Amino acid sequence: MSRAQTHKIRNYSEQIRLIAGTAHSELASSISDVMGLPLADAHVGRFPDGEIDIKINVDVRGSDCFVLQPLCPPVNENWIELLLVVDCLRRASAGRITAVMPYYGYARKDRKDEGRVPISAKVVANTLTTTGVDRVLTLDMHAAQIQGFFEVPVDHLYAKPVLLDALRELNIENPVVVTPDVGGVKMARSYAKALGADLAIVDKRRISGSETVIEHVIGEVEGRNVIIVDDMISTGGSISQAAHIVRKHGAKQIVLAVSHAVFCGPAVERLDACPADKVLVTDTIPLRSAPSRVEVVSVAPLLAQSIRHLHESKSISSLFEEAHN
Ligand code: R5P
Repeated sequence: MSRAQTHKIRNYSEQIRLIAGTAHSELASSISDVMGLPLADAHVGRFPDGEIDIKINVDVRGSDCFVLQPLCPPVNENWIELLLVVDCLRRASAGRITAVMPYYGYARKDRKDEGRVPISAKVVANTLTTTGVDRVLTLDMHAAQIQGFFEVPVDHLYAKPVLLDALRELNIENPVVVTPDVGGVKMARSYAKALGADLAIVDKRRISGSETVIEHVIGEVEGRNVIIVDDMISTGGSISQAAHIVRKHGAKQIVLAVSHAVFCGPAVERLDACPADKVLVTDTIPLRSAPSRVEVVSVAPLLAQSIRHLHESKSISSLFEEAHN
């Protein structure tokens, strides 16, 4: 029987259990605080040889279990840890298991764009479903179509309402929303529409995992305040180059608004050296080091509300009417 079929016939009780992996304890605590629901007593540690040691110390039989674990760096550790927590819950007869992954690692490897490379995002999905996940709750996946890699339901949240609130508080006059690459046009257009702003596109070409080159700016940024939006800052190459190029084309104030602050490799140095006045990010990933001018807005209330809706079988999309525009 497939996981999808199993999902249909499973029953879970009124009992919600929040189980935190070690990927992002601060976010897990915030979700727990917002929900007024303690994190389940569990030990998620390491054996002396580095293998992962897990023991859940509360009864989960029949419970509606939400495992809080973004697949952020160190992604491989966090991924295996999530799988082992899910396995533990399944063997303890949990009623339903939802993987709450505010950041979906490996999402940028979602197709075979050259010969002899894996589709890693699909492998992540396969391992989760075969291990026992009944649902997935995630946020701003790099490519929304990754939902189709799963045979179980995926609820895809957007950081947009949270970032829009923070952007509106900045009272940016006459803004232009800029995407650092053509793949981000849909996202940038939806921000532009919500803010009543114009749209411009930076034409980026990726030459390696950490290097990109900018070819053109399509649209008017001269003398304008610019908001550059993206799903993630990884090495910071894309967005810092976009900030440099719009400044070169005459942009005044420059604000970056990004869902996932991966901040790896030279990201902090690149952002510190780029002409952005402010960098807005969410807390889907713990900030181990951050450039100056960073402001973090929390998605914990959004995740807490979504978990509550899932438990009560209420609509998730109703939380995001504006985000779908
Ligand atoms: C690209 O398609 C993504 O939306 C991001 O622009 C990119 O992955 C960010 O990576 P980096 O910060 O390393 O340029």
